[in-house]
Amino acid sequence: MARRRQIYEGKAKVLFEGPEPGTIVQYFKDDATAFNNKKKGVITGKGVLNNRISEFLMIKLAEIGIPTHFVRRLNMREQLVREVEIIPLEVVIRNIAAGSLSQRYGVPEGTALPRSIIEYYYKNDELNDPLVSEEHITAFGWANTHDLDEMMGLSLRINDFLTGLFLGVGIRLIDFKLEFGRLWEGEEMRIVLADEISPDNCRLWDLKTNEKMDKDRFRRDLGGVEEAYQEVARRLGILPEGGPRDLKGPETMQ
Ligand SMILES: Nc1ncnc2c1ncn2[C@@H]1O[C@H](COP(=O)(O)OP(=O)(O)OP(=O)(O)O)[C@@H](O)[C@H]1O
Ligand SMILES: [Mg+2]
Repeated sequence: MARRRQIYEGKAKVLFEGPEPGTIVQYFKDDATAFNNKKKGVITGKGVLNNRISEFLMIKLAEIGIPTHFVRRLNMREQLVREVEIIPLEVVIRNIAAGSLSQRYGVPEGTALPRSIIEYYYKNDELNDPLVSEEHITAFGWANTHDLDEMMGLSLRINDFLTGLFLGVGIRLIDFKLEFGRLWEGEEMRIVLADEISPDNCRLWDLKTNEKMDKDRFRRDLGGVEEAYQEVARRLGILPEGGPRDLKGPETMQ
């Protein structure tokens, strides 16, 4: 296949120009980073698993009416998505205290929050993705109040749905990060879910043992990282036959 033009290389994915205007190809790498790129590593097979997990979750979300950028999976490591204008915010939805929330407010990890909390971080690696308020977001023009209402509404629906979906396979959805983008159709603009949903940007704990099944295993050197990602895919019923190996030739689509 002719090599497509690369648009961007991020920490976890590479973006290529898609076959039709307005589309891009997301290529999922095995590279893992944490603490804003200070810790780097490779999680073998992660790209294959995240491509599959994100596809599965985006399709499920589309089925309940959440607009997403997802078009179709192309192969083991690539998916076709609609190109959007990314809103420069990381939207974090939290159900149980963990990570930076625990540190910042002194709430022990694992404490159930009285209600789900949505946080916004400004997507800017140089600034370490700082926590921002709606005031900052609207004052600096990253999004307006309508965009924020839309993102919050979608985030809560996504949270309710994913919480139930993961609970059904014995996993607690502790928190997760979403990115949204603007999709223009003529004069009309819609806010859609973009990027990916995977154990790279969700905290997932085993329901019975509270064992971590996500990128915290890499961040905190807990070992068994590959196995944890595989176990998430296995429980969702989507582990590729024979594990997350790459296929050489073209493959049949499901
Ligand atoms: N549908 C889309 N259209 C355009 N850009 C997208 C789309 N979905 C995701 N992106 C962007 O593609 C990049 C994905 O690459 P990756 O996740 O590796 O980035 P990253 O290293 O985390 O960097 P960033 O800080 O920009 O997220 C991100 O910048 C993300 O915002
Ligand atoms: Mg990213």
